[in-house]
Amino acid sequence: MKIDINTKILGLIGYPLGHSISPLLHNYSLEKLDLNYVYLAFALEPDSIQKGLEGLTALNFRGINVTIPHKNRVIPYLDELDPLAQKIGAVNTIVNDNNKLQGYNTDAAGFKRMLEDDGNFIISGKKAAVIGAGGASRAVGVVLCHSGISELYVINRTYDKARKLVRTWQQFYENIKIEAVPMEIAEYQPLIKKMDLIVDTTPVGMSPETDVEPVIAAHTLHAGQLVVDLVYNPPETTLMKAARSQGAQTLNGLDMLLYQGIEAFKLWTGQEPDVDDWRELASANIQENAINETHN
Ligand code: ATR
Repeated sequence: MKIDINTKILGLIGYPLGHSISPLLHNYSLEKLDLNYVYLAFALEPDSIQKGLEGLTALNFRGINVTIPHKNRVIPYLDELDPLAQKIGAVNTIVNDNNKLQGYNTDAAGFKRMLEDDGNFIISGKKAAVIGAGGASRAVGVVLCHSGISELYVINRTYDKARKLVRTWQQFYENIKIEAVPMEIAEYQPLIKKMDLIVDTTPVGMSPETDVEPVIAAHTLHAGQLVVDLVYNPPETTLMKAARSQGAQTLNGLDMLLYQGIEAFKLWTGQEPDVDDWRELASANIQENAINETHN
């Protein structure tokens, strides 16, 4: 990589900064596509967010990714916010466009592309259940509503959190049936049976605690359903194994991570990395202690 006075800076902010594969992926493709950028990682303390974002324009960064715990905290300091990112309430990509900071949520776009490209899943008119009501759930739920899902159920251990999330989405999407469901088998079993898509956004099953009961009972799943676990380490979680044994189609969250990065790369450079290169690099480099980067 040749660095000179024209090299533009990209990066990642988070705190604390666990292991991340984003620098590896982005720098690989920047070099391969002969783009004069470098992608670095910055541990930015929550108290310093404003200073950090002012630094982006002062030092003429082209853009950054934003991860835990800053995805919602950066929003007040942006000049423009993509409507989807606004509804999600989280930004994972910032573009510096002539000293104006624009915020996007490419986790949502990444999830959508994974469903469509890897799962051959057409969202419009389908019924979906999302398990969990944290940051990852917000990106998934909003993009499903935005893409024309007909019914959406949020199942969460803390029922109140699901209800709160659902109330927000009901205001944005009045024509979609959106409901909160307690995480009790008697409540969710009849519902899960009717779903086309089930997305587990909880960290249950993530390395190192891989040998756990799936977050929902396996016998509620069946062939014809697509079951997505946003965890990608291990590549097949206990939920995915259970779903596969019931004949359902399964996906892990790795391609969502790759596609969100590709979307960010496109926003910054106008060019597109090769997803197969990234898949190979990521698979070889995801470590035991890696943070799940699409989990907010
Ligand atoms: P993320 O940003 O990755 O979505 P989060 O905001 O911490 O992470 O949210 C994690 C979600 O997984 C929450 O909805 C959490 O449920 P609670 O709202 O009850 O805390 C859910 N979750 C975490 N561990 C869980 C477990 N062992 N069983 C069921 N749900 C779990």
